[in-house]
Amino acid sequence: MEPLEVVEEVLKRGVAEIAAASSSEQLEQLRVSYLGRKAELPLLLRRLKELPPEQRALVGSRANEARQRLAQLLEERAAELARAELAARLARERVDATLPGDPPPYAGSLHVLSQLQRELEEIFIGLGYEVLEGPEVETVHYNFDALNHAPNHPARAETDTFYLDLENAGRPGDRLLLRTHTSPMQVRAMEERPPPLYVVIPGRVFRPDSDATHTPQFHQLEGLAVDEDLTLADLKGTLLAFARAVFGAEREVRLRPHFFPFTEPSVEVDVSCFACAGRGYRRDGSRCPLCKGEGWLEVLGAGQVDPNVFAAVPDTAANSPGYDPERLQGFAWGMGLERIAMLRHGIPDLRLFFDNDLRFLAQFR
Ligand code: PHE
Repeated sequence: MEPLEVVEEVLKRGVAEIAAASSSEQLEQLRVSYLGRKAELPLLLRRLKELPPEQRALVGSRANEARQRLAQLLEERAAELARAELAARLARERVDATLPGDPPPYAGSLHVLSQLQRELEEIFIGLGYEVLEGPEVETVHYNFDALNHAPNHPARAETDTFYLDLENAGRPGDRLLLRTHTSPMQVRAMEERPPPLYVVIPGRVFRPDSDATHTPQFHQLEGLAVDEDLTLADLKGTLLAFARAVFGAEREVRLRPHFFPFTEPSVEVDVSCFACAGRGYRRDGSRCPLCKGEGWLEVLGAGQVDPNVFAAVPDTAANSPGYDPERLQGFAWGMGLERIAMLRHGIPDLRLFFDNDLRFLAQFR
């Protein structure tokens, strides 16, 4: 082919291909293949001197024109494609700022029982008590024997206590069980510390019951005060402070005689009903649904520490001078956290505490 024909052919092909290019990348490849160092027109221009002299001027100027024309077309097409590509990208990445945003992440919170436990701890810390915790797997010794339970006490029955098929390795004949109350920590605390002693012990306890008012696991907060000259009046004053902090400044407490093996005398403690201010009936004259017309709500068991419990505490290096029943008095109480939370919040079913249904738990955030 004659050089002039080559120029015309390249120009024609270039014009068509540039017009057909559909992306910037494709266009860039065309730029290299028409204007790059090894492309036909630049090559031809570099080799003009190899042509016969009479052809050089014409071929040179035609090739130059063709090259400039292609360069211009490439530039125009590049601008067109860039505009189109930007428009496409803007359409693709369009954000509708009027759409609702993501809902806020669900913030977790403490379980209602944990909240109550911490609140109670704060109340008793304010009264000078220390918070202790103890083992959930206990021994018959601490759970029953040291707490003055008679050998045939019904709570010891296999039907009332979860026993483990294991013996206490340290004490042959002493079986392991899941503690049925937090009271065993009374004895452990006295073994570990000298009097005077003011401690509260929150924790899980276990009994083989399961219905709307009993779950196999529940929570108690134990209290124990040991000192010289402690009386039932001190117990009542302490629990009055608790009752007013939890149920309202107007509350009163009343003690009713009861029995526990490890306290003497033993009492059940009632708080005046906060729903009816202790009247037993509502403004409209109907019976108070919370206290069932009683005016009082039973909240816990308590009593003066039985001297037999002090006697069951061995003198140790840690508790010196030890717990002499002749010299010391004490009082103790045990309250059910679920019961207090149910009364306070009007929660109808104990099982709600353990179902982990967020519709229930989120009410106490
Ligand atoms: N441990 C008793 C119970 O679980 C409660 C209690 C504790 C009573 C301390 C008196 C003193 O029912």
